[in-house]
Amino acid sequence: MDINELKSVARAIVADQKGILAADESGPTIKKRFDAIKLECSEENRRRYREILFTTMGAERYLGGVILYDETLRQNSTEGIPFAELLNSRGILPGIKVDSGAKSLALHAGEKITEGLDGLRERLQEYRQLGAKFAKWRGVIEIDAAALPSSYAIRANAHALARYAALCQEAGIVPIVEPEVLMDGAHDLQRCETVSAQVLEAVFEELAAHGVALEGMLLKPNMVIAGMKSPQQADTGQVAAATMRCLARHVPPAVPGIVFLSGGQSAEDATAHLSAMNQLGPFPWQVSFSYGRALQAPVLDSWKGQEQNVAEAQKIFLRRCQLNSLACAGKYDS
Ligand code: 13P
Repeated sequence: MDINELKSVARAIVADQKGILAADESGPTIKKRFDAIKLECSEENRRRYREILFTTMGAERYLGGVILYDETLRQNSTEGIPFAELLNSRGILPGIKVDSGAKSLALHAGEKITEGLDGLRERLQEYRQLGAKFAKWRGVIEIDAAALPSSYAIRANAHALARYAALCQEAGIVPIVEPEVLMDGAHDLQRCETVSAQVLEAVFEELAAHGVALEGMLLKPNMVIAGMKSPQQADTGQVAAATMRCLARHVPPAVPGIVFLSGGQSAEDATAHLSAMNQLGPFPWQVSFSYGRALQAPVLDSWKGQEQNVAEAQKIFLRRCQLNSLACAGKYDS
């Protein structure tokens, strides 16, 4: 493991108010997104859609990395250039989702464990050859007002995240460690803060136990936010204050960057929250974005699978990237 290489990749991804586009939807997830715009989920449509995102001129000013799915890492642009090479040539680092999804946790009704550790060492070797500089693994933590998550589900997911992160660093790949406390449900902001704190504590304990170098990773957490069905929705300032309090208490300063997931928030909310958080800085880590839906939903709505809409869709994508980059400096004003 070359710690200096890991460190410089991790830092480059979040340098200069840049963030990450999460374009790593698995087959079933991208099908859901395409169903919503009534588009057939063919391999060519998936390739073309990702190409539209990756060839948006100017996005390289705001994006330090893009997370790809296995299929996408093996695809090429219309001109025949592998996507990883195309992104690299524009100064955007290609990354890869390496988990194989969250499955039911045995004997723990309603809870999940992420799979994908078997054979991961070998897959990471191949991904590195294909040009991946960083990776992502998402642990899913179900939450409700009282019973969930169990302490075992937290521990099991933290352990898997740490095993993944150690394997990545061994292979010279920067791990993005993503423990996601879901925003489904009716729990309030306080409950999300309590659970997020427990999860982060367990994750950093396991990362330490596995010998993971914090300087060579990025953390991708949820924001501290009330459940979508909660009658008590917190305002932007409350979300920002609770999130940064929780992270300041539980994320060591050696971590170079925190890149939030959007988790089902609207594009506007995700940007407003990020900006409000950065207004509370400075922090020991860069505070940035790794959004999937919050960057892509407006693009899909505009594109709708039609070639004549590509220019407009790219304009919308560029604008979202730019606004989130402004939010990294606390300068986005909704
Ligand atoms: P969302 O921003 O849509 O939550 O996606 C981010 C991600 O990578 C989830 O794993």
